[in-house]
Amino acid sequence: MSEQIADDNQSIYQKNILGLKLVTDPRWVDLTTISLEALLTDHAWCEQKAATSCISLIQRYSDRFEIVDELMPIVTEEWGHFRLVVSELKKRGLKLGPQRKDLYVNALFDFQQRGGSVESRLLDQLLTMALIEARSCERFKRLSEGLEDEYLRNFYRRFMESEAGHYRTFIDLARLYIPEEKVWARWEEWLEMEANLMNEMAVRGDRIH
Ligand SMILES: [Fe+2]
Ligand SMILES: [Fe+2]
Repeated sequence: MSEQIADDNQSIYQKNILGLKLVTDPRWVDLTTISLEALLTDHAWCEQKAATSCISLIQRYSDRFEIVDELMPIVTEEWGHFRLVVSELKKRGLKLGPQRKDLYVNALFDFQQRGGSVESRLLDQLLTMALIEARSCERFKRLSEGLEDEYLRNFYRRFMESEAGHYRTFIDLARLYIPEEKVWARWEEWLEMEANLMNEMAVRGDRIH
């Protein structure tokens, strides 16, 4: 009976986490409360990397109007997120710590196709971005529901909503340039890979991923 309830909860939650195959370990939210400085530092650098990655895509695919057009405002938004998180640190008398090695993002990059057609490489680059947005969204959702501090719950709710929108933009861009069946087939492989990766990675409260 209790297993049945757990299964039902899992499926309801899955619908809210943009197709991800693994829900974040519930211990994670508790671990994040050990050091808000560490959490906000890691979060700030995630936002910086999101902005930088969008700029790189604009540079690489400047001949594809929709990529340039859709990603220009996301660069501004992600940089705005970086500023918001840094302001939060400052307000609390905390410091922005150094950027750390991002094991999660590096493992995703390793899974990207290097050879193959321009289309296949573009697809993987867009799906990598979609996946990072989806997982970030899921993590922010966890924080927005699980933290005790009401201010921080609302703080993270705003990020959750914004990253969900970005996830959709990256998926839509993929569907614009690549046949739909190919997008969903490859997305399925990415989701599989990401769930295995999440399973292998240590649960750390000083990391967004
Ligand atoms: Fe963001
Ligand atoms: Fe984002």
